[in-house]
This record gives sequence, structure tokens and C-alpha cells, in this order.
Amino acid sequence: MSEQDSSSVSTAPPNQVAAWTFFLQWAKHPLTTASMVPSGRQLTRQMMRQLPADARHVVELGAGTGVFTQALIEHGIAPEDLLVVELNPEFHGLLCRRFPALEIINGDARDLQAIVARAGMDAGVDAVVSGLGFLAMPREIQKQILEAVFAVLGKGRSLIQFTYGPKAPIPQDLLEELGLTATRVGFAPLNLPPAFVYKLSRRAD
Ligand SMILES: C[S@@+](CC[C@H](N)C(=O)[O-])C[C@H]1O[C@@H](n2cnc3c(N)ncnc32)[C@H](O)[C@@H]1O
Repeated sequence: MSEQDSSSVSTAPPNQVAAWTFFLQWAKHPLTTASMVPSGRQLTRQMMRQLPADARHVVELGAGTGVFTQALIEHGIAPEDLLVVELNPEFHGLLCRRFPALEIINGDARDLQAIVARAGMDAGVDAVVSGLGFLAMPREIQKQILEAVFAVLGKGRSLIQFTYGPKAPIPQDLLEELGLTATRVGFAPLNLPPAFVYKLSRRAD
């Protein structure tokens, strides 16, 4: 997509407004917001690098103020092929104002199967890009979200996820229970805080 096309999809708020909104939401909902600041450019680039070259239908979970959303559009994902899910109504409102051409659902990643079906994307999602703070979630919620994500992802497709710890954000026993593998594929030392990128996929067997 050309720069002109992508700018017609997005009305970016000034950086300070986005940063301030993010900080306020972190103060109100520290567990679900999971960070005091939006992801930086290096982490965003590392996340986008993991998109398969043939990815068409993409879901973004936990978009916050929309840094990955903007990057997905700039990467060339067509607005009608991008579905964004954000739990926090304040972030949802900001995203709707910033990206009026996108389908942005104020909902819970746990309900992804129903959300994708309603959006008519149930032929198979090519990639799920997630900003969710899995480390701060109870195991049961992690499990429900992963079940929903892999119910909509097409065969051989992956969840792209970042985390602030050096280990995968999902415990090994839960990955095994769900038949998943987590591979570290990127590191963004300049992010605040430094972050690792993981790709979660179904086990080959
Ligand atoms: C660490 S922030 C990431 C925001 C943005 N992607 C970024 O990287 O700057 C986590 C985001 O996930 C959202 N979130 C948390 N739990 C969620 C859930 N169950 N379903 C959808 N969004 C959720 C939060 O409201 C927040 O916007």
C-alpha cells in the first residue's frame, strides 16, 4: 500500500496524546494494559517481520493506541482484511477515531471465534498479531485465549506475540496441553522495556 493510501486509513493522534492515554489506562487497569507505554518502533518492526509473505486475513489482539495497527496497514494488509480486537473501551474509542476505515471490535480475545465468525473471516486467519500481556494473566485466561486463537488460525499459521521476559510468556505445561510450540524469533533491546518476540504454532505431530 502506498504512503498516501495508508495515511487515508489512519488519523494519527499526536504521540504525546497516545502516550498520555496509554499511561492513564495503565494507571486504571495495570493488569490488562500490562505496560506503561506503547510499543516502540524497533519492537513493532520485529513483530511485522514475522508476518508470512502471503498473509492476507490478519487479526490484531490488544491494539492499545494502535502502533501495530498502523504498521500492519503500512505493511500492506488491506483495511478490509484486518480485524482488530481491543478490550478497553477508552482504547477502542481512540482506535475507532484513528482508523475509521477498519473493523475494530470492543471485545475480549477469549471470544475470538465468535468475533471472527461475525466478521465473516472464518475461512481461515493467516496471522494473529498480539499485544496482549499474557504474563499478567491467570493460566485459565491464557488457555481460553490460545484455544480461541488456534481455532481461527489456518493450518500452519502462527500467533505472533511479544513479551518482556526472556522466557516464552506461556508456561511450558500449557503449551504442551494445547499441542503448541513457542519459538523466540526476535529481540528488541531498545524497546521500553526491552522485549522478545515469539511465534506460537501448532506442534508438527
Ligand atoms: C501491553 S498493551 C499493548 C498495546 C499495543 N499493542 C502496543 O503494543 O503498544 C495490551 C493491550 O491488550 C488489551 N487487552 C488486555 N486483555 C485483553 C483481552 N482479553 N482482549 C482484548 N484486548 C485485551 C489491553 O487493553 C491493552 O490495550
